[in-house]
Amino acid sequence: MIKRFSIRIKLIAAFIIIGVFPMLLATYIGVEIASGRLEKGIEERINYAGKSAVYLIAKKKTELEGVARSFSGDPRLRKVIQGGVNIKFLWFDTPLQVYLFNHENHMIFTSTGEKFTRPKNPAEGMTLLRTQSGSEPWPLLVFLLPVSDQGRPIGTIMTGYPLGNEFLNDLKSVTGVESMLFKQDPSGGYFSIDTKGRLDLPDEILKSVATHGRQAFTKSSRIRLEEKEEEYHALLTPLPDADGRVSYILFNGISSSETLSRKLASTRFYYILIFIGVLLSVIAGSALGTGISWPILRLSSGVKAISAGDYNQKIQVRSRDEIGELAGSFNLMTDRLKATIAKLVENQNYTENMLRSLLNGVMTIDPDSMIIRINRSTENILNLPAERMVGKKISAVFDQDPSILAWIQEGLERRQVKEGMETILHRRDGAIIPIELSLSPLEDPVRPAGSKTGLVVLIRDLTEIQALKEHIRRQDRLAALGELSAGIAHEIRNPLGIIKGAAGILKKDSSSQPPRFDELCSVILEEVDRLNDVINDFLEFARPRPPQFKPQNINELIRGTIQMTALQIEKNKICIHENLKSDLPLIMADEHQIHQVFLNLILNALQATDQGDSLEITTRHLKELNQIEIIFADTGIGIPEDNLNKVFNPFFTTKEQGTGLGLSVVSKIIENHHGKIFLASDAGRGTRFNIHLPVAEKFDSADQEDAVRTGSAK
Ligand SMILES: Nc1ncnc2c1ncn2[C@@H]1O[C@H](COP(=O)(O)OP(=O)(O)OP(=O)(O)O)[C@@H](O)[C@H]1O
Ligand SMILES: [Mg+2]
Repeated sequence: MIKRFSIRIKLIAAFIIIGVFPMLLATYIGVEIASGRLEKGIEERINYAGKSAVYLIAKKKTELEGVARSFSGDPRLRKVIQGGVNIKFLWFDTPLQVYLFNHENHMIFTSTGEKFTRPKNPAEGMTLLRTQSGSEPWPLLVFLLPVSDQGRPIGTIMTGYPLGNEFLNDLKSVTGVESMLFKQDPSGGYFSIDTKGRLDLPDEILKSVATHGRQAFTKSSRIRLEEKEEEYHALLTPLPDADGRVSYILFNGISSSETLSRKLASTRFYYILIFIGVLLSVIAGSALGTGISWPILRLSSGVKAISAGDYNQKIQVRSRDEIGELAGSFNLMTDRLKATIAKLVENQNYTENMLRSLLNGVMTIDPDSMIIRINRSTENILNLPAERMVGKKISAVFDQDPSILAWIQEGLERRQVKEGMETILHRRDGAIIPIELSLSPLEDPVRPAGSKTGLVVLIRDLTEIQALKEHIRRQDRLAALGELSAGIAHEIRNPLGIIKGAAGILKKDSSSQPPRFDELCSVILEEVDRLNDVINDFLEFARPRPPQFKPQNINELIRGTIQMTALQIEKNKICIHENLKSDLPLIMADEHQIHQVFLNLILNALQATDQGDSLEITTRHLKELNQIEIIFADTGIGIPEDNLNKVFNPFFTTKEQGTGLGLSVVSKIIENHHGKIFLASDAGRGTRFNIHLPVAEKFDSADQEDAVRTGSAK
């Protein structure tokens, strides 16, 4: 995972990169220059020490010569040399060493107690002697001055100055540089007289100093001391002796550890400078970073709060830079967003209230038959809570009503408006209610043209309307009774008139010939039969005989009726589908009356269908209601909407030979059986009757056996 760095950290880092790196570079250059200078200074100091040594030696030489010369003029000294004065009384006022030799070169006086053989060369002049002063082999700088008396040599005066510790300390006190003396050993190397170390020099330098007697500067004179090894910047000054051999080397140098510590001391300043610089950069970067990142953090937290739904956010940024401007725009945007959302909420509430106030159920469905939204009336009509519908497929809600599902599916596919489809809804709680459905495609301007749209389904509960209709129907029936009486009177008066006429003729003409007599008798009998039929039907409707309830197998009754009408079915070339559920519970019914119901419905269907049409008869058990449902659905001519209310009225017929009593008798019988009949029809497409009859709850086993016997006998 990539680690996120805050703007503040980035700014501090930028500051360090921009501010500290150049500073480091400058410091590096500064340190380099400073150490260059330091090295140069060291070199100068060493050179100065070399020159001082040469100067000191030269000064000592002058002193040595001066003292020797001043003594040579002293007559007492001559006498001493010639042996005339006791040596014990000799006194020299000089810090230098004084030695006297007689003409045979024997030492006759020494101020130090050390004895020498007079060096042969030079006869007169300066030279360096290798002596052993105490334990240290310090070189002795001497001036030899032969003394003569009237042209005859009587001896030699020698003044001496040891180039020992005192000399070296004097030198150091003047130059501040370490001074050491190295003496040549028999192997040709040089060892320090006092520090017991060896001088380790590159060959060419040694050659230059020892062979040519030149001063040489070296940056890497290594001295192997007994305890440690040290590197030196040094100036080597050769000190040749009487033979011209460089037996001693004067060494003036500064050790590299001292050089380093000096370097460190001088660069420490720069390091402190860097530290302060870095510190200032971090503080400045941090302050600037905070200054820049704070308003951004405010903006960010404001955006977060808005995304969490808090539109009252105001970002307080006082800076007048781009971030300040951004904060201003942000606040403006928040205000507008707030206003827009308030408007949206208002609109939504309005829509919600409107939907809630609607008495009709409203259901919106997406192109995949998924229920998107419903209103409260839908919940009431279907008696299902919203959560059991919203987000579910319509098939899960209307699973008991395949016809409703088919309609909705067709509406989705064809994207067409369908209005006022009356049907029966089987609710989950078992209730069966009449409803009216209207479908219309869901308008969605955002959707690209031609793409699939959803559907708005309006559901109207027709229970009350149906009850009202039923009431009106009853009223109509009463009113119809008047008409009926007139109809009956008319129906009866006609045959009666005919019968009266025939009887009158028979009475008047008792000699009527048999053919005429037979004819009149036939007319009378026919008309009496017709009268009888009319009266029977009428009585069935007006004062039906009470049903003789017995347990009945409904499927058997249906099959019996179909068998009775088989001839006519065959003649009309109608297809009958028997969709009869087996193992149905028995019902309590009057066999004859129920048979009459089925017969009427089948005959009506046969009269309404044409060759090739079909009639489907379905039976099923509605467990929740404990009822049997019988459905007669044909694909015939259907019933025009205007007639739907009238078909159950007595004497309403659209047929020439019909009495219009069939359906009124059917509804009466069903009513007497505590059942219900529902009609749904689409003019031109077909008609469906749903009959619900209660299941026989308690009857004795004798009845059941009887019913089974009756059912199987048919
Ligand atoms: N299955 C059906 N298809 C189309 N229309 C029907 C159907 N059943 C009934 N009807 C209509 O309802 C009217 C009334 O029917 P009903 O059975 O009461 O009388 P009818 O059939 O006309 O006469 P009857 O039954 O006395 O011979 C019919 O005339 C017909 O217009
Ligand atoms: Mg009929």
